[in-house]
Amino acid sequence: MTATRRLSPDELPDAAAILRGGGLVAFPTETVYGLGADALNEAAVRRIFEAKGRPTFNPLIVHVADAAQADRVAVWNERAERLAARFWPGPLTLVLPRRAAVPDAVTGGGPTVAVRQPGHPLARALLAAAGVPLAAPSANRSGRLSPTTADHVLADLDGRIDAVLDGGPTTAGIESTVLDLSSVTPRLLRPGPILPADLEALTGPIERGPAPAVGAMPSPGMLERHYAPRTPLVLASADGAARVASLGGRVGLLTHHDAEGEAVERLPADPRGYAAGMYAALHRLDHLGLTRIVVAAVPDGEEWLAVRDRLRRAAF
Ligand code: TXA
Ligand code: MG
Repeated sequence: MTATRRLSPDELPDAAAILRGGGLVAFPTETVYGLGADALNEAAVRRIFEAKGRPTFNPLIVHVADAAQADRVAVWNERAERLAARFWPGPLTLVLPRRAAVPDAVTGGGPTVAVRQPGHPLARALLAAAGVPLAAPSANRSGRLSPTTADHVLADLDGRIDAVLDGGPTTAGIESTVLDLSSVTPRLLRPGPILPADLEALTGPIERGPAPAVGAMPSPGMLERHYAPRTPLVLASADGAARVASLGGRVGLLTHHDAEGEAVERLPADPRGYAAGMYAALHRLDHLGLTRIVVAAVPDGEEWLAVRDRLRRAAF
């Protein structure tokens, strides 16, 4: 494949045409950049796995223009209806029984499909212009940090995809909440911007974490090592700065406390602000050629659940 085109928002019709022709276009969502392909075109979907180096058993999220389009790829139910009415468009992914139109490549051959209506205006405009649902994992090489800018996408995927639609930095900065609605009790498969308590207000109690393994992996994206920089990353006690001084080598620090220094990234002390800047800060630290990255421990509590989850996987 030739060099990847960087498209401006004005060039959205080109992005839509590439997608309709079976190509790959990365695009911004409110969470992270996704790597999109026509979800109903099996050959196009296979290209996503090649570009990312993603294991084919790890299923993809299908992005839809609205609930009506979701109902054409997934078997809709009353709970999904209620959640979508409240949280869509937005960073909530629902796992539901699939419909026959969805290729096996999207679902990893399983009986369910993940769907979400993204809230980012460019993502919504692209879905409308393409006229097809878009399968889109995060637009990074498999296992690496998720991209929150077009530059992050190009650093990982230049020459491997047709285009990236540049909409500037994403706002939420952390991947969507994934909720499995395919069994009797809803299950949180991945914490994200929508908090479990806000889901429970509409669904009643939900289970946390992957189902006890029965043969196949319930949500392969829950693979332990994930979302990781190349530089080894360690989680420190709340007093991360002291750790840095004692470690030796060229050590970087990611913290929400007061700190200054050459390789220090300071993030806001609130969970939304932290999540919004976390991946960009890790990308920057990862490019400094450090011996390791130390991350100061973040607070307990469910508002910090998604941040803690990603940091734990990055450190694994
Ligand atoms: O915010 C997001 O969700 C971003 C943007 C681009 O939408 N996408 C994203 O996709 O993070 P990806 O592929 O990096 O993560 C999708 C997650 C993985 O953990 C995957 O295993 C899980 O959703 N998943 C997808 N389909 C599933 C299914 N049918 N059953 C269970 N888990 C599923
Ligand atoms: Mg991902």
